[in-house]
Amino acid sequence: MKKFLQRQMHFLGLGITLLVLLVSCQAAPQVESSPTAATPATTPVAQATPTPAQLPPLPYDYAALEPHIDAETMKLHHDRHHAAYVNNLNEALAKYPNLQNRDVVTLLQDLDSVPEDIRTTVRNNGGGHINHTMFWQIMSPQGGGEPTGAIAEEINKTFGSFNQFREQFNEAGGGRFGSGWVWLVRNQNGQLEITTTPNQDSPIMDGSYPIMGNDVWEHAYYLNYQNRRADYLDNWWNVVNWNEINQRSALSSSASLSQQSLNQGT
Ligand SMILES: [Fe+2]
Repeated sequence: MKKFLQRQMHFLGLGITLLVLLVSCQAAPQVESSPTAATPATTPVAQATPTPAQLPPLPYDYAALEPHIDAETMKLHHDRHHAAYVNNLNEALAKYPNLQNRDVVTLLQDLDSVPEDIRTTVRNNGGGHINHTMFWQIMSPQGGGEPTGAIAEEINKTFGSFNQFREQFNEAGGGRFGSGWVWLVRNQNGQLEITTTPNQDSPIMDGSYPIMGNDVWEHAYYLNYQNRRADYLDNWWNVVNWNEINQRSALSSSASLSQQSLNQGT
């Protein structure tokens, strides 16, 4: 009897040990085989824009940029207009499997390689997608004020002062007839330059790097400013995200406008 009990106790002990082992294994944190690439510590400088394209989330609430840009405008602008560019682009590219997984930037840099029947659609909607992807990032509820960092120095050197730069930028934006964008770009000579583009054309189509840009389509301001584009252009400076712009500027100068730099980020 004693032997029987000893044997039972032995098996019971083994059972408990096994049970403890099993539970501890299951409770141990899962070690995932995470990618070796480090997660970017900062906001992506320029979003990777592979196709099929995806609508990036707005990095703040719709109302976050009020009173300078109203919540309803932000909602329509992001959820409807930008979403439509993404959908239209994907719909056009769906007809051509060989264009799938190409980056939007490379498509826009080489529009001649895009089949003629979808070329204008890709130009307008691919441009709309990358322009707006940048636009959300270069604004911030904590934005505004004088530029900081290296871009401040370069703006002073190129344009004389921030005020002169802002004046020229607003003048260019106000003078863009119809719909389009006003930009601060780094041109092919590596210099800062204020330019404008019609519709959704991007400066990358001419080999310039878009460091910052303001959307002067009426859909960007009409609900709040009606026909007063000049007021919108003035107030927009209150939400400009100089941190992000500094990152884009640094990347544009260090990467010599390479396609890789435009796509670096996520
Ligand atoms: Fe827009």
